[in-house]
Amino acid sequence: MKGLFHPVAITLYVVLFIISLPFILPDKSTKTYADAQLREAALSRDMLPVPKTYEALLKVVDTAENPLSPEKIALGKKLFFDTLLSQDKTISCASCHSLEEGGDDNLPTAIGYLGQANPFHLNSPTVLNAALAKAQFWNGRAKDVEEQAGGPVQAPFEMHMTPKEVEQRLKSAPSYVTTFHEVFAIDITFENVRKAIGAYERTLLTRGAYDDFLEGDNEAISPAAKRGLALFISKGCKCCHTGMSVGGQSIQKFPLRSYLSEYIGLLFSSDIAIKESPFPFENKGGFLGRDDNLRFRVPILRNITKTSPYFHNGSVEKLEEAVRIMSKYQIGDEFNKEQIDDMVAFLKTLDGELVKY
Ligand code: HEC
Ligand code: HEC
Repeated sequence: MKGLFHPVAITLYVVLFIISLPFILPDKSTKTYADAQLREAALSRDMLPVPKTYEALLKVVDTAENPLSPEKIALGKKLFFDTLLSQDKTISCASCHSLEEGGDDNLPTAIGYLGQANPFHLNSPTVLNAALAKAQFWNGRAKDVEEQAGGPVQAPFEMHMTPKEVEQRLKSAPSYVTTFHEVFAIDITFENVRKAIGAYERTLLTRGAYDDFLEGDNEAISPAAKRGLALFISKGCKCCHTGMSVGGQSIQKFPLRSYLSEYIGLLFSSDIAIKESPFPFENKGGFLGRDDNLRFRVPILRNITKTSPYFHNGSVEKLEEAVRIMSKYQIGDEFNKEQIDDMVAFLKTLDGELVKY
């Protein structure tokens, strides 16, 4: 009888318990849904379609602090594409955020004034649908697109201007003087430059096959994409990449998990295992996210196939690899090839075209 409580026996019970855990715990395999159920599962989790009309758009993005009007949006568009906003008059917002290229520059790290690379090796995120995010920048330090727009204009490695210089430049362009008066009823101010650009960005929303599916078109996306969407929901990707923009709503730790095997790998070799641990890739620019705490504003996944390379430092070229890293480090359930392919098929349905409001 005593033997049952012997330390060796107790250790054995613990080991047996741990080994049997996978059989005791609930089955985590993918749920399958019928089309209507899948749509309902997405909609009820705040995964909403992008509005089609200007009236519907206003309900989503208009704000009392910067009320939208067609004139303000047009002014913001002009400013977004204007190289006057940079010191040597060669760079505009669109230089790094090309609307035809998925709203970014397809470079691992942004290149600005005098060919300078971003000192933190940061990758340009997309401006498409960014207005739907709750915070801007990789560490979420700006609250909205209006506040954000002041950053790149002044950054010495981006456009390298002071607010005064911007005001002087625009005041010497007669067409801007009249338009600013029409839109804001006052002289050109840097604050209103930010507001006009922000107003334009609030209209840079895209719709794709995913939106059609959410609105009831079962044929809009393939069976593989439906399996991917089911995975996205049931495995918990949607917990972080959520909302109408499929991301941008919160700041989250990355990587969430680390693996013992990697620490052991660290001792013995210099292969991938090491690169992945404890930070899943080379820490190129020393950027460690919000409060240097490995916390990042969750990226927007709309148009994701057009915004390679991936992650804040642009270190991962392939979407398949980005998905594998996410499945391993964020949900702790490394996907097999089939699951990765389904997920990528789903992510492709998030590609879209700018809506003409
Ligand atoms: C030299 C390239 C470059 C230029 C020029 C540039 N940006 Fe950016 N943009 C970036 C980079 C890099 C980031 C990420 C920086 C960070 O997180 O610290 C960024 C971030 C943003 C974001 C945040 C998106 C998100 O989801 O967090 C928006 C919006 C944006 N830029 C709009 C603009 C506007 C408007 C202009 C013009 C006034 C502009 N950018 C000029 C490179 C550039
Ligand atoms: C706990 C929150 C969380 C979960 C869960 C999560 N992600 Fe992420 N995801 C992030 C963060 C944070 C980043 C940005 C990390 C960085 O750039 O350093 C990111 C980045 C990405 C990127 C690269 C985006 C870009 O523009 O560079 C993709 C693609 C992605 N996630 C897909 C997924 C998929 C698919 C799943 C489910 C398997 C998933 N994520 C689960 C938080 C999460």
